[in-house]
This record gives sequence, C-alpha cells and structure tokens, in this order.
Amino acid sequence: MGMKDKIIAKVFRYDPSMDKVPYYKEYEVPWQEDESGFMTGLQVLHYIYENIEPIVYDYNCRGSICGRCSMVIDGKPVLACYTKLKPGLHIFEPLEGQPIIRDLMIDRKPVMQKFVETEVAKKTVNAVEKSEDIDYDLYWNTLERLNNCRECMLCYDVCPALKVGGKDYVGPGAMMQIAFRHLDPHDEANRVEQAVYSGLWKCVMCGSCELVCPAQIPHLSLLQRLRDDAESQSLKPKEWEDYNFWKNRLQTSEKSGKE
Ligand code: SF4
Ligand code: SF4
Ligand code: FES
Repeated sequence: MGMKDKIIAKVFRYDPSMDKVPYYKEYEVPWQEDESGFMTGLQVLHYIYENIEPIVYDYNCRGSICGRCSMVIDGKPVLACYTKLKPGLHIFEPLEGQPIIRDLMIDRKPVMQKFVETEVAKKTVNAVEKSEDIDYDLYWNTLERLNNCRECMLCYDVCPALKVGGKDYVGPGAMMQIAFRHLDPHDEANRVEQAVYSGLWKCVMCGSCELVCPAQIPHLSLLQRLRDDAESQSLKPKEWEDYNFWKNRLQTSEKSGKE
C-alpha cells in the first residue's frame, strides 16, 4: 500500500489505571473515501476500533451536532466527525487541559458543571408577550447560534485566560451561555453581574474561541457587549481601571520619550 492509499493515524493512548505515562501508537488505515473525496477523523478511529484494536473515544451524532467527538487532530481542536482528512500521516490527541478517562476520551464533567451553573437564578417573564421584542437579526445572528452551542469544549482548548487564571474564569462556552440569557428578553436576572463574577475581565479578548467554534458564535462581540453593559452598570472591576490607567500612562510616556 503506497502513502496515497492509506492513512497513518498516530493516536494518543493512555489508560490511567495501567500506564505510567501516555504514549502514541501508529495504525495503518486503508484509504476509504466518501462521496466528497475525504475520510473523516471519526471514520479513521472507527476503522481502528473495528479492525485493529479497541481504542477509546467519544461520539454520538456523527453530524457535527452533539459536540462529543471534539479532540485535537493535527494540532487543531476540531470535531472529528466533521474533519475531512486526506491520505498521509495524521495525529489524534485529546483536548488539552481536561482530565483523561482513557485515550482520546476526556472527562467532560468539570466544564459541563460550569455550563450548568450559568443556569442559576434564572427568572422568566411572560414568554409570548416578550417574544415580540426579539428582532430578526438578534434572533438569527445571535440567539439562534448561542442556542446551537454544541458544548464541544473546543473553545476551552484554545482559551489563554483559562491557561493562566483557570479557576476564576468559567471559560468561553459558559460565558456565552450567560450572554445568551442576558440578551434573551425572557430572562430578567442580572446576567451582567453574573458575567462579572464569572470572570468576564479575565478574558484577554484574543478571539481564539470564535475561530474554533463550530456553532459560529460571535464570541468577541458578545464579550464586548457584556463588558459595555457591565461598565454602564458600574460593574467594571477597580483593578481593571487601574490597569488601563497605568497602560495609558505607559503609552503616553513612551510616546513623549520618542518625541
Ligand atoms: S477571547 Fe477570551 S474567552 Fe475567547 S479564547 Fe480569548 S481569552 Fe478565552
Ligand atoms: S461556544 Fe462554540 S466552541 Fe465553545 S462549546 Fe459552544 S459550540 Fe463549542
Ligand atoms: S459525533 Fe456528534 S459532533 Fe461529532
């Protein structure tokens, strides 16, 4: 079999009950393209599971809906069922920063708990009466996308705010659910306050979450919206004002130094 007829899958393997450290194992998978001329990451894993040896990974819908097949393929956080591969070498790894159950399967509970916690103190008003307040743009471009969050956690894989200040930040996905409730006219709780104590200002506004999000949620504009609304409720943390004050001072003095 030449390289054109196969995929070499280099798969992260780890059984915490037996292995001292994780390792990678290579599998040769015959190329079986579908009607679009590709083979998906999930099809490659299924082949290994069914024909070579059992490996552990998660999936359900196979259609980019459930978010369960999220992993890192060739260094990118993706949904395996929606990732089209060509013949050649491909590397399969679990999402970074999450507890590993086995191989590519991570324990989703800690992050899912953060999603669940965003539900707290939800108050609803008369749904029918308030439905008339939702404009078309807000509905299709924002609320509907937020509603389609796959809970895939790809945004958690890339978020630098979680890497440095983990515990104080609920993370991009859960923060988007807070934004969802903030913009939903059926919800009357103070979601801006909730966003602030969930670490809104820990985010560095890098936009990485938006780039990987399969639901095309406009993370950056929603984070900015929450910040603007927090500022108008005087909920901007004092230390952030201090930070901006010193940053401006620094920029001004750098500028005057050059002149
Ligand atoms: S924009 Fe904020 S939430 Fe999104 S990845 Fe960057 S730091 Fe994380
Ligand atoms: S916000 Fe996007 S990337 Fe994050 S969990 Fe939801 S669908 Fe996945
Ligand atoms: S299996 Fe459901 S999103 Fe991939």
